[in-house]
Amino acid sequence: MTVCEYRAGLEGIPATQSSISFVDGQRGLLEYRGISVEELAEKSTFLETSYLLIWGELPKKEELELFEYEICHHRRLKYRIRDMMKCFPEGGHPMDALQACAAALGLFYSRRALDDPAYIRAAVVRLLAKIPTMVAAFQLMRKGNDPIQPRDDLDYSANFLYMLTETEPDPFAAHVFDVCLTLHAEHTINASTFSALVTASTLTDPYAVVASAVGTLAGPLHGGANEEVITMLEDEIGTIENVRPYVEHCIEKKAKIMGFGHRVYKVKDPRATILQQLAEQLFEKYGEDQFYDIAVELERVVQEKLGHKGIYANVDFYSGLVYRKLGIPTDLFTPVFAISRTAGWLAHWKEQLGENRIFRPTQIYTGTHGNPYIPMEKR
Ligand code: ACO
Repeated sequence: MTVCEYRAGLEGIPATQSSISFVDGQRGLLEYRGISVEELAEKSTFLETSYLLIWGELPKKEELELFEYEICHHRRLKYRIRDMMKCFPEGGHPMDALQACAAALGLFYSRRALDDPAYIRAAVVRLLAKIPTMVAAFQLMRKGNDPIQPRDDLDYSANFLYMLTETEPDPFAAHVFDVCLTLHAEHTINASTFSALVTASTLTDPYAVVASAVGTLAGPLHGGANEEVITMLEDEIGTIENVRPYVEHCIEKKAKIMGFGHRVYKVKDPRATILQQLAEQLFEKYGEDQFYDIAVELERVVQEKLGHKGIYANVDFYSGLVYRKLGIPTDLFTPVFAISRTAGWLAHWKEQLGENRIFRPTQIYTGTHGNPYIPMEKR
C-alpha cells in the first residue's frame, strides 16, 4: 500500500463508494439517484424521495401507498419514551433531546437482524415515523404541555406542523415544508453521513447509527449553521446599513459568516436557490420578514467580497427564514434538518450493510517515543 498524503478534514479523499447521490460543486448540481433535486422538489414528496434514496428507485403507486401507510401507523411514541422525555431539562437543546431519544429506540427495538430485509424495512419505517413525533413532543413538553398525538388523516409534513403548533397547517405551508424536507434529505458523504457510516460499519443497530449522525449534525459548522444564521441576522447585523461593515469585520478577523461556504460547492448551493424562492412565496402569501432584505444584501456583499474564493450561500442560509415563517422556533431548525436527513443516513446505512467493511483508517503519529515514566514527585 502506498502512503497517501495527509489532508486535514479528509478533503477530496474518497471514503466510500455510493450510488445514492451526486454533487457537482463547480456546476451547482445535486442529484438523488441520478434525478436532479430541482425536479424532485417540484414533482416528488419527501416520503417518495426517501423511498427513492433508500431503495434505489421511485416506488410504484402501491409501493408508495404501503410505505406511507406504514409510516403513518408507526408515528406514535411508547409512553416510556414520552416519560423519559419529560425528565429532560426544558433548557436543553432539542438536538440533544433528539439524539437521546433516537438512541433510546434501540432499547425498545433491540433485535439486531441486519441480514433480514424485514428488520431493515421496520427500522427505516420506525425512524422516519418517530423522529418527527419526538421533535414535536419535546417542543410541547418543554413548554410544560403534554405532547399531542399524531393525526392519521394528515400527511407526513402536515402532521409534523400540526404536532408542533397544535394547529392544522395551511396546505401551502405544509407543501413548502415538505419541499424543505426533500431538499435536505441527502447530500453525499458530509460529516453526519460519514459519522453514520462509521457507526454502521461496526454492525451496531440503526438507532445507534442515527443517534451518532444526529450528534454530528448538531455542530455549528454543519447542520447547526441554520440557527446561527438567524442569530447573525437578528442580533449581530440587525440593519441593512450594518451588512457591509459586518462582512468587512468578519473578513478582517477571519471569522466565518454563517450560511456561506461549502467544502464541495464553489457556486451558490442549488438548494439555497430553491429555498430562497420558497421564502419569497411564503412572504407573498403570509407577509414579509423584516430580515429577508438584510439576508439578500448580505448575500450580495459576501458574493462581492468572497465570491473569488468560491464562497457563496449554502443550504443553511435561507432555510431559517423559511422555517421562521412556518412557525418553527429557531432552535428546532437543526432537528428539522435531522428529520429530513434521516432518509439519507438510512440510505447510506443500508448501502454500507450491502458491502460492509469496518472503518479503520490510519494516522500519522506526531508524538515522541520511548519516554520514561516520571514519578509524581519529579513532575
Ligand atoms: N465566511 C468567510 N470565509 C469563509 C467562509 C465563510 N462562511 N467559509 C470559508 N471561508 C474561507 C476561509 O476563511 C478560508 O479562507 P483562507 O483560504 O483565506 O484561509 C477558505 O474560505 C476556505 O475555508 P475552509 O474553512 O478551509 O473551508 P472548509 O471546506 O473546511 O469549510 C465550511 C467548509 C465548514 C462549510 C465553511 O465554509 C464554514 O465554516 N461555513 C460557515 C458555516 C456554515 O454555513 N456551515 C453550513 C455548511 S452546509 C451544511 O453543513 C449543511
